[in-house]
Amino acid sequence: MNVSGSRRDFFRNVGLGSLGAVAAGSVMAAAPGTENTMLGESGAKSATKPKGLWKPMSDRKIRVGIVGNGACKFGPSFGFQDHPNVTVAAVSDLFPDRCSEMAKVCRCEKTYPSLEEMVKDDTIEAVFVATDAPSHARHCIEVLKHGKHVATAVPAAWGSIEAAHELYEMVKASGKKYMMFETSAFREDCYAMRQIYRAGGFGKLVYTEGEYLHYLPNVFPSYKGWRAGAPQQWYPTHANAYYICVTESSFTEVECMGTPSVIKQFQAGNNQYKNPFGTEVALLRTAEGGTARMIVSYDTRTPGTESGRVYGQRGVMAGTAYSGLEKSLPNLERPPLPPTVGAGHHGGSAGYLMNEFVTAILEDRKPMVDIALAFRMVVPGIVAHQSALKGGELMKVPQIA
Ligand SMILES: NC(=O)c1ccc[n+]([C@@H]2O[C@H](COP(=O)([O-])OP(=O)(O)OC[C@H]3O[C@@H](n4cnc5c(N)ncnc54)[C@H](O)[C@@H]3O)[C@@H](O)[C@H]2O)c1
Repeated sequence: MNVSGSRRDFFRNVGLGSLGAVAAGSVMAAAPGTENTMLGESGAKSATKPKGLWKPMSDRKIRVGIVGNGACKFGPSFGFQDHPNVTVAAVSDLFPDRCSEMAKVCRCEKTYPSLEEMVKDDTIEAVFVATDAPSHARHCIEVLKHGKHVATAVPAAWGSIEAAHELYEMVKASGKKYMMFETSAFREDCYAMRQIYRAGGFGKLVYTEGEYLHYLPNVFPSYKGWRAGAPQQWYPTHANAYYICVTESSFTEVECMGTPSVIKQFQAGNNQYKNPFGTEVALLRTAEGGTARMIVSYDTRTPGTESGRVYGQRGVMAGTAYSGLEKSLPNLERPPLPPTVGAGHHGGSAGYLMNEFVTAILEDRKPMVDIALAFRMVVPGIVAHQSALKGGELMKVPQIA
C-alpha cells in the first residue's frame, strides 16, 4: 500500500498522543484517497476533556499488564499509564522493537516476550489484550486461567461462536472482571442515548441504525495478515453498539446481504476467509421486537464513519440532539475523568473505557460492556456473515448471555 507504508504513515498521520479523537458519530478519516487509513483517525483532533471534578474512591494501585503494540499501537493508547489507580507493571509484544517502544510510552521497565510469559507473573492483577483479533478469545482465556482480570480490544471473538461460548464459560467460572473496549460505547452520542433510554425517554426502540464505514482499498498490515479481506460483519461492534450499548438488550434474528467487491482483497480467491464481500448490510430483529439496520463497509469510498441513530416510541436521537416527549432529561454529559487521563481517541472514548475497567475492579462490580454485552454485539455479526453467504437467509442469533 502504500499503506504499506502504513505503520510509518499511520504513525505520522496520527501520532501516539493523538490517536486522537473525533466528535461523536462524525466523520473520522481523511478524505478518501489512494491510501488506507486505519482507525480512520488521521487528521482527527483530540477530544476535549470532560468538565467537572473527578473524585478518587481509593488510593489503591492496580498492577496492570499491557499486551500488543501492533499497527494501531493500541496497547498504550488507552492511557492506563496515566491513571492514578494504575501501575503499568509490565508490557509485552512478540516483536522486541514494538515491546520496547511500548515500555517507553508506558513508562514501565518490565517487559515479557509474550502474553503467555507475562501471565505467569503473580504480581499482575489485570491484563489489557490489544493483540490481533483472531487471538483475543484465546488470549483472554489464558489471562483468566491465571486468575487475572482482563480487558480486550474488539472483537471479543473472531468468527467463531464456539470460541465465544468457551470464553463465556471461562469468564463465568473465573469470577474475574472481563470487559471489551468497544469504542462506540463511550462516544458522546451513544453515552447520552444510553442515559435517555434508561430514563425512559425513548420507550422501546422501534428502529436503530448504525454504520462502520472504513475505506480499505489496500491491505492494511496486521499480525499474520488477519485483516486482509476479513468478513465485514466479523467486526460489527462499532455499529451494533448503537443498539446494544444503548439498551443493553440483544438481537435475536438476522438477515444480511453482502455486496461483491471491486477491491481485490475482498474477492473470495484473494483472502484466507474465502470472503467474497466488501460490504455487508444486516437487518436484525431486536429482543424488544423492533428492528435494526447495521452496515459494515470496507469498500465504499467514504471518509469513514462510526455512527448510529435511534428511533423510539417516545423519542428519537441523532448525534446528541434528542427530540421526543421526555421533558426532564437526565444529565447527558460524560462524567469527569482523573485529571491525568485524557479522553483520547475514538470520540474521546478511550480514556472512559480504561477508567471504567479500572473503576469496576476497584468497586468490585460488573464493567460496562461485560462479557454479555460483548457477545450481544459480536455474535450477531458472525451469524450475519453466514447469512450473507447464504444469500440473505433469515437466521437465529444464539443468545450466549
Ligand atoms: N476502534 C477500535 O476499537 C479499534 C481500532 C483499532 C484496532 N482495534 C483492535 O486492536 C487490536 C490491535 O490492532 P492492531 O492493528 O494493532 O493489530 P496488529 O495485528 O497489527 O498487532 C497485533 C500485535 O499483537 C502482538 N501479539 C500477538 N500475539 C501476542 C502474544 N502472544 N504475546 C504478545 N504479543 C502478541 C503482535 O506481535 C502484534 O504486534 C485488534 O484486535 C483490533 O481489532 C480496535
